[in-house]
Amino acid sequence: MNTHDVIVIGAGVTGLTAAWRLTQAGQDVVVLEARERVGGRLLTECHAYQDGTDGAADFEVGGQWVSPDQEALLAMIDELGLETFPRYRAGDSLYVDRAGEARRFEVDLPVAESTAAAIDQLTKTLDGLAAEMDPDRPWEHPDAVHLDSVSFRAWLEQQCDDVEACDNIALYVGPAMLTKPAHSFSALQALLMAASAGSFSNLVDADFILDRRVAGGLQSVPLALADRLGDRIRTGQDVTSVEWDEEGAVVRVGGESYRGRRVIVAVPPTVVRRIRFSPELPAEHRMAREHQSFGLVIKVQAQYDRPFWREAGLSGTGFGPYQLVHEVYDNTPADDPRGFLVGFVSDVLADEVGRLSATERRERVLASLAAYFGEAALTPATYVESDWQHQELTGGAYGTSFDLGGLTRYGAALHEPLGPIEFGSSDIAGHGFQHVDGAIRIGARIAGRILDTTKEN
Ligand code: FDA
Repeated sequence: MNTHDVIVIGAGVTGLTAAWRLTQAGQDVVVLEARERVGGRLLTECHAYQDGTDGAADFEVGGQWVSPDQEALLAMIDELGLETFPRYRAGDSLYVDRAGEARRFEVDLPVAESTAAAIDQLTKTLDGLAAEMDPDRPWEHPDAVHLDSVSFRAWLEQQCDDVEACDNIALYVGPAMLTKPAHSFSALQALLMAASAGSFSNLVDADFILDRRVAGGLQSVPLALADRLGDRIRTGQDVTSVEWDEEGAVVRVGGESYRGRRVIVAVPPTVVRRIRFSPELPAEHRMAREHQSFGLVIKVQAQYDRPFWREAGLSGTGFGPYQLVHEVYDNTPADDPRGFLVGFVSDVLADEVGRLSATERRERVLASLAAYFGEAALTPATYVESDWQHQELTGGAYGTSFDLGGLTRYGAALHEPLGPIEFGSSDIAGHGFQHVDGAIRIGARIAGRILDTTKEN
């Protein structure tokens, strides 16, 4: 059995970044990936048109957007020689109100003046609290213990009695980001989401947070990293056990074994439990991960023969806190004459439509798109849903977050190495939390730590 300097488990962006930085520094690295492809939660799928016409279109079924604060991702895109293009946003946006009426707006939501004032006030309060937080150490926020003991929904209702204002602010962090109902995670966890994007104002500004896309899809990042790593990557290698001591570890996949001086477990915290460790993980390591869970969002995409909404002066952007599809955007690739919409069905609504047949779910989703854009939205040429929740190697979307009290109790533990083993994924990032930017930061940080200790020895 060959001994490698570092064995990386998982070829998502975290694992690939760590592997590439270590390789650049002269380390002998092997990357074991369970799937038959690299990229993890980044994937472009090609789907044939479903309306009988010849041809096919590409759909990003995982992560896709890049924002200006995501400096680690932007630097990586540059380093890999990839190009970005802006999300289409010319024209009016839409807000579908509680009565189901689609109302146009440019910047501020078309809600009652008192609701708008309440939204402004909540935004200022959240910006102030987020500014006091180091996203890499959210448990050190001056009011961390209290904020981690109250659900975000309950906290909002303590601040403000305007229900529509609370519904909208809850939407931005709950269904739209953590993809959980706002009563199921703490106010501190919500603040981490805001601080990870620089501020709450950034997080709720679609033109900021969903600014650009990568030509060819965000999956181009892991594909380009994998190209550089070449045959150091082995796909179809579902790691089942890791035997370790202070000197190193033996990683087993089916009948094969790999020995490494160091190991990086670059998989989501909830997926770590699929691997059997010997000796076992200490209780705190195990329990910390048991208090994290994936959110659930179904990303839905519809492709039409043309972007018909643009003809009506609409940007394709829409928000509807009372809609099945709570947010929707123009997702047309640069220079494509066809029209693409992307929308999201989140948390309990995703549970509800998840129980329907594929045909019924499609009808419900398209009816919700029609609430924004009218009847033309009912008949796309192609309709695609992402299905990460059905894949054991992921288990939900977009990422994982703690239950009430978990961030202060266990947040720091998720960063702790265990003998020769490091753990990481975008789920434990501070800046870029739950985003590709965070995956790059965590991957680079772990590689840096390993190189530092290698130099010391
Ligand atoms: P990731 O989960 O990608 O990688 C882990 C890898 O480990 C996987 O390849 C898995 O197969 C492998 N693995 C697991 N167990 C294993 C085992 N036992 N042995 C070997 N391999 C194993 N982000 C963003 O920046 N902008 C966006 O617009 C979005 N939007 C978005 C939409 C949707 C639908 C999803 C699902 C996600 C996003 N994201 C996003 C989030 C982003 O995709 C995510 O944060 C990163 O891709 C996570 O990268 P990681 O490498 O940390 O984990």
